[in-house]
Amino acid sequence: MKKQKLTPPDVDALYELECVSQPIPWSKENIALELGRNPSFSFSWVGVDETGQWATYVLARQVMDELWILQVGTAPDFRRQGLAQELLSWVMAQAEAVVEIQKVILEVREHNTPAIELYGALGFVQEGMRPKYYPPVHPGAPRENAILMGRALRP
Ligand SMILES: CC(C)(COP(=O)(O)OP(=O)(O)OC[C@H]1O[C@@H](n2cnc3c(N)ncnc32)[C@H](O)[C@@H]1OP(=O)(O)O)[C@@H](O)C(=O)NCCC(=O)NCCS
Repeated sequence: MKKQKLTPPDVDALYELECVSQPIPWSKENIALELGRNPSFSFSWVGVDETGQWATYVLARQVMDELWILQVGTAPDFRRQGLAQELLSWVMAQAEAVVEIQKVILEVREHNTPAIELYGALGFVQEGMRPKYYPPVHPGAPRENAILMGRALRP
């Protein structure tokens, strides 16, 4: 899989991928804000298949001594091929070049088993919980807890 760093001109294409990948997509404005931040602190990448199709993406940012994983998604047709795992590993490998970054953290819905399994496979462990943090995926359902996960950047 080819990896391409995301930049501000990628907003529209990334928004399309976001909409097919996420139950509650970020708005185009939020994507534009994220891709418009200081590129020195940005670790946002897309994985592209051999035909040029965008398959998987990671939005991540350095905040002080941490790498925050903000969003991860794989288009439905590309799932279970190891692509999110490959791209997340790539993003963390890029972050290893920045000596200040010590730790990687993220938040995930507590019922999002595929994502929790993915992060577990990459060595993330649960470090906390934010009760009722996420709005419901389905109208009328209760709000969902966030699980906070983290791992050291380097072994
Ligand atoms: C979670 C998500 C990003 C995984 O993407 P993916 O490219 O299919 O993941 P990978 O193929 O790299 O999976 C790597 C490992 O993660 C785990 N995993 C991934 N999907 C899984 C599933 N549906 N059920 C159980 N484990 C799963 C497995 O351990 C898998 O390894 P294996 O296939 O050898 O068993 C994808 O399902 C997705 O986009 N979901 C909707 C958006 C989302 O929930 N994003 C996370 C927000 S925090």
